[in-house]
Amino acid sequence: MNTAVLGLQYGDEGKGKLVDILAEKHDVIVRFHGGNNAGHTIYVNNKKTVFHILPSGVLHKNKLNVIANGVVLDPKVLLEEIESLGFTPNLKISSKCHVIMPYHVKLDQLREQKFHIGTTQRGIGPAYEDKASRKGILVEDLLNPSVLRQKIELALTEKNVLFETLFSTFGMSVDEVYNLYQAYGWSLKPYITDTTKLLQDAVKENKSILFEGSQGTLLDVDHGMYPYVTSSNTTAANIFTGTGLSFKTPVDVVGVFKVYNTRVGEGPFSGCIEQTNPNLAGTIREIGKEYGATTGRPRKIGWIDLDELKYAINLNGVTQLALMKTDIFNGFEEFCAVFDGFTLKFKGWNSIDDKNFKDFVQFLERNLNVPVKFVSFGPNRDQIKYE
Ligand code: GDP
Ligand code: IMO
Ligand code: MG
Repeated sequence: MNTAVLGLQYGDEGKGKLVDILAEKHDVIVRFHGGNNAGHTIYVNNKKTVFHILPSGVLHKNKLNVIANGVVLDPKVLLEEIESLGFTPNLKISSKCHVIMPYHVKLDQLREQKFHIGTTQRGIGPAYEDKASRKGILVEDLLNPSVLRQKIELALTEKNVLFETLFSTFGMSVDEVYNLYQAYGWSLKPYITDTTKLLQDAVKENKSILFEGSQGTLLDVDHGMYPYVTSSNTTAANIFTGTGLSFKTPVDVVGVFKVYNTRVGEGPFSGCIEQTNPNLAGTIREIGKEYGATTGRPRKIGWIDLDELKYAINLNGVTQLALMKTDIFNGFEEFCAVFDGFTLKFKGWNSIDDKNFKDFVQFLERNLNVPVKFVSFGPNRDQIKYE
């Protein structure tokens, strides 16, 4: 069976950990949207690995990992991530991915000084903008010198005007960008292929595919809290446009969420306790190590919000739930949850075997109408219970 692992909150729910675990039971692991704005953390025997662009199945060397067409790819970041792995990953990259260019990153950084969305400043928005306005550079263009040069010339004709006049800074040189990106293309060549056909063939051969979501439902460009969102669809429907598989492909959807809520970046955040209870927010942040895996920014802390979870479950067609970071409330006397617009109090627990914990899971299942199949109680691969 195929499975998708999707975040139901504002990102950083623990998707990476779950993908690493579920990779064992699947043949192919696929990233289908977003880019290196993601930071997916995996602990194996207390050794920490953070993936930004490589799929989180890469540590399973016998599994095929795919970066599909819906991803925006920064070749520099990918090559550095491959280098730091210490082994050659079992990886294929779509020739149709759009490339994050240095002018996308620069534009994201300059705009952030004015618009304050709180982006990761990795060039994600500007790269998707160029994709939609048909000016984007595809991974396959990196292997075609004349097309690559022509496209960079066209892009910089426009971007350099913005840099020099609107932002009063230096433009970029076509030659420098071209030389660098042509070289990246050749380094990535062994990995580049038609992943649409590869994945369609895998489905025909009854191989099982694990789709790795990035960000979270409330950051979806259509269904999230616009404009404080990322620039891709983070929800289940994008699995199909992001890979080229038919929407009729059967997929179990695992919705991942934490026992509390976090958010990095700006924008509305329900249940936020940063102002009402800054000490408690600080305590949860420290115990939960809630600092961005990509930017290191402190994550804002809020109570879990069942109304938002219901919204996310409906949008994604979630069939199973994964409740993460339950250990953070070990020893807590009480904590809260937002439900039907009210803030309800619940008793904390000492372990997942406590009655209080079991009661809370029952409350979740009754009100969300989806079974909690995974309960995570620590960052390590083996700190998970599943039915
Ligand atoms: P992702 O972006 O959804 O993959 O999540 P991140 O990796 O950005 O953030 C989740 C953080 O929580 C990581 O540091 C994980 O190692 C950690 N984590 C995941 N599950 C648990 C858990 O059950 N307990 C604890 N204490 N940490 C966890
Ligand atoms: P993972 O996959 C949490 C947030 C940014 C900002 C908004 C737009 O680790 O869960 P962008 O750089 O995408 O244009 O920023 O989205 N954001 C994330 N927040 N986890 C992520 O990824 C995120 N990726 C982007 O903080 O608010
Ligand atoms: Mg993350």
